[in-house]
Amino acid sequence: MSNYSKYQEILRKIADVQYASAVLNWDQETYMPSKGAEYRAQQLSTLAGIAHELSTTKELGDLLELLKNDDSLGEKEKRNIKESLKKYIDNKKYSTEFVQQLSKTISEAFQAWQKAKAENNFLLYAPYLEKLVKLKRDECCILGFESHPYDALLDQYEPGAKTTDLEVLFADVRIQLVDFVKQIASKPQNQESFMFTHYNKQKQWDFGMDLLKQIGYDFDAGRQDVSSHPFTTNFCSEDVRVTTRINENDLSEMIWSCIHEGGHGLYEQGLPSSEYGLPSGEYISLGIHESQSRLWENNVGRGLPYWKANYKKLQEIFPDNLQNISVVDFYKAMNIVKPSLIRTSADELTYHFHVLIRFEIEKALIEGTIEVKDLPSYWNSKYKEYLGINVPSDTQGVLQDIHWSHGSFGYFPTYSLGSFYAAQFYAQAKKEIINLESEIENGNMSLLLNWLRSKVHIHGKFYSAEELCIQITGEKLNFKYFMDYAKNKYSKLYDL
Ligand code: CO
Repeated sequence: MSNYSKYQEILRKIADVQYASAVLNWDQETYMPSKGAEYRAQQLSTLAGIAHELSTTKELGDLLELLKNDDSLGEKEKRNIKESLKKYIDNKKYSTEFVQQLSKTISEAFQAWQKAKAENNFLLYAPYLEKLVKLKRDECCILGFESHPYDALLDQYEPGAKTTDLEVLFADVRIQLVDFVKQIASKPQNQESFMFTHYNKQKQWDFGMDLLKQIGYDFDAGRQDVSSHPFTTNFCSEDVRVTTRINENDLSEMIWSCIHEGGHGLYEQGLPSSEYGLPSGEYISLGIHESQSRLWENNVGRGLPYWKANYKKLQEIFPDNLQNISVVDFYKAMNIVKPSLIRTSADELTYHFHVLIRFEIEKALIEGTIEVKDLPSYWNSKYKEYLGINVPSDTQGVLQDIHWSHGSFGYFPTYSLGSFYAAQFYAQAKKEIINLESEIENGNMSLLLNWLRSKVHIHGKFYSAEELCIQITGEKLNFKYFMDYAKNKYSKLYDL
């Protein structure tokens, strides 16, 4: 067996263990009864330990060292070795004890967060979050960093991203977007009350399933379930799970979570199955992952052509709610810009203020300039400052997101990156695909999906996020595309 085959075999074994964890995680957030929590935490911790051991064996290290200098390998194989070596070196920095401790703390923190959120009691969660923040600060030192400790965490989600670059990007967001949102706020608001009438749960579910099928989500390689926080996970590219949530008094929650997670699901289903367990079979970064969900959710799903394709059907399912509402009024209601409390239901413009706030808080927690106990008041003051709103409860404030309970610090910025990449990719798709939007208007999403398959999905991790962006659009990530998209769309919507 060649060294490269041995390497493939080891990586696939590691993937087997990690995807087994993913199944248990999926179950924990969808069907597991509450009493299962304690031993589930232990099971996940054990598997995390096994994966870590397999990822750090001397055998793998020696193989990677040999393959690093093997000139007979092709470009894709060389790239795989480079990625795996980077990961191996990072993994070697952790002790098995640290990995297990982190995994166990995360499971406990997740349970505590659920309870704290349900009971609006931050104090139930605070001790676990404190432990997690401490572990994350330790992790920055374990991994090492050049200019800012937060870089070490960021790199796990968005390889190569730097805190200083994000500070520059978010300065643009502050300067350009705050001003634009103010202009919108000075205009009369569009009507949206019909979105909050009663919409039957089962009918919403059925409609959401149809939306997933329409964009090309393959139900022979996936399924949808319900969870409190919608997410996508995968156990290989032929088993990709999405979840949604349904609120009978707010139609938009189901629609946006379906299309958004559907976009993530399409990326995972489009990764090359033959590259299972290898970097060439994995997504590039969370920013690129999010670009796929945001492109479908915002650039397509919040657009008029998409609703020209789908609105008649929706009206037929919910005649009592929508028979007197035109497709244009529905489109306007879908795109109301208004500062709000909850990130996941924010409009696509003020959304980035929610991310900006979390970015500033995470940076401060990791630097140690604020402590966990001060989070609720710090959070509330930031919402007042950037969005001009008062936060009435921690459930609707600092407890709203799952991420920190998962130990995911450095994750939030990738949401904004995703929207900005999506705007840039979509602008390019419109240039390259003739009549793209009139095809969408006819319910034909396959041209866009095929374009994304060939430009993004099929390449796995062969390119970095920056390389991919240049490859597709001819330039690096440029915030201008998002602002152009926003100005073009919302100037018409709000008659600016
Ligand atoms: Co997402």
